[in-house]
Amino acid sequence: MAAHLQDQTKLSNGVGMPWLGLGVWQAKDGEEVVNSVKWALQSGYRSIDTAAVYDNEEGVGQGIKESGVSREEIFLTSKVWNSDQGYESTLQAFETSLKKLDTDYLDLYLIHWAVKDKYKETWRALETLYKEGKVRAIGVCNFQTHHLDDLMADCEIKPMVNQVELHPKLSQKELREYCRENNIQIEAWSPLGQGKLLQLPLLNEMADKYGKTAAQVILRWDLQNGIVTIPKSVHQDRIVQNADVFDFSLTDEEMAAIEGLNEDDRIGPDPDHFDF
Ligand SMILES: NC(=O)c1ccc[n+]([C@@H]2O[C@H](COP(=O)([O-])OP(=O)(O)OC[C@H]3O[C@@H](n4cnc5c(N)ncnc54)[C@H](OP(=O)(O)O)[C@@H]3O)[C@@H](O)[C@H]2O)c1
Repeated sequence: MAAHLQDQTKLSNGVGMPWLGLGVWQAKDGEEVVNSVKWALQSGYRSIDTAAVYDNEEGVGQGIKESGVSREEIFLTSKVWNSDQGYESTLQAFETSLKKLDTDYLDLYLIHWAVKDKYKETWRALETLYKEGKVRAIGVCNFQTHHLDDLMADCEIKPMVNQVELHPKLSQKELREYCRENNIQIEAWSPLGQGKLLQLPLLNEMADKYGKTAAQVILRWDLQNGIVTIPKSVHQDRIVQNADVFDFSLTDEEMAAIEGLNEDDRIGPDPDHFDF
């Protein structure tokens, strides 16, 4: 169980990945993302989650430089976008991401969505990048159990991470169990439900009990469940607040009560029916 902001989970290949990081989807390239990344790193975060399609990799790279934290201390994730899937195009997209981020390796490279008829070729490119030492770990996003079954039946290197929509209204119990059994680290995107879950009375009652916020209660629930979590904020006070979750513990009853909020309710697209 993570006891500190810089504590890490060990991925199946032995690489350490921080339990908590900063997400930067919808953080605008330029000052907004530069500041968010800088504030996060300066307040102790060591993991940043971006993607080619977020169109802010340059700002992420600049924020890392301006933070004064050395690159080797940081766990940097990016993702190959759907239109770049396929073997050669993924290799190219990876180089473009490196250039924009102004770095010579990534810590984690992910397939952003399971594009039918393409994700296996894309995966082969990720395996190549991994074998060449250009990325320390590889994984997927938005893969359901049937996608993982299909990929793992036909791959050389198993995915180390599956990053999926996961929050109290979509607790992904079955997928979490599957990933645990297969030694794939589950990672929550939109852990705060894009901010839409923060008014839930149950979470606010627990927050009041501990002198915390609903956001902190959710993030603590992730950590106690062994889920890597990457809340996004572009506000310094919230960035700091979201990482201040290591000084309280939810009881087993509270953990179960939050699980009880699940309605299998997605905010984002359905990984089996998306058209982008
Ligand atoms: N792989 C994928 O397909 C995928 C999809 C979606 C997201 N992601 C990743 O997951 C990350 C997180 O998900 P997300 O950005 O969708 O949503 P999220 O982290 O669940 O929520 C972010 C929203 O909550 C607000 N917020 C953050 N902390 C808060 C706090 N303490 N109190 C009140 N409001 C707070 C933010 O506002 P402000 O910024 O204004 O503070 C923002 O509007 C993304 O940034 C991205 O890196 C991946």
